[in-house]
Amino acid sequence: MTGLAVLTLSACGQQTPQREPLTGGDPARGQALIVHAGCGSCHTIEGVEGANSLVGPPLTGLRQRTYIGGVAANSATNLERWLMHPQAFSPRTAMPDLGLTEDQARDIAAYLYLH
Ligand code: HEC
Repeated sequence: MTGLAVLTLSACGQQTPQREPLTGGDPARGQALIVHAGCGSCHTIEGVEGANSLVGPPLTGLRQRTYIGGVAANSATNLERWLMHPQAFSPRTAMPDLGLTEDQARDIAAYLYLH
């Protein structure tokens, strides 16, 4: 298995393209969104200050995982969908639907795949 599908999503154009390897999102914006959304209250996330909780699994090395949430094949598309609507994959998961937009999920996924 070659791993993650590289999507040809069009980026917004204003950020550095060499840092958009997997989702077309902007990892710097993703990091800010992670802080804003409070993901660190449940997850340990490399490079995000204060994100050291273990309520959910640590998100380090997410790119190497085979599954997202133990249920969906690890691809950029599935990661973005998981971030927007975890219950769509896993109805009883404790991970909340935080109301992220598609663009926000793409940026967060870009960050997570780089850490
Ligand atoms: C209230 C706690 C909570 C919050 C807030 C939360 N999560 Fe989660 N998250 C979880 C739990 C619990 C799981 C494990 C879910 C499962 O396996 O069913 C999880 C799973 C995940 C996974 C899959 C991890 C894996 O190993 O497969 C990702 C990715 C993820 N969360 C990202 C995020 C991001 C990004 C945010 C912020 C936008 C966030 N989470 C906010 C609790 C939370």
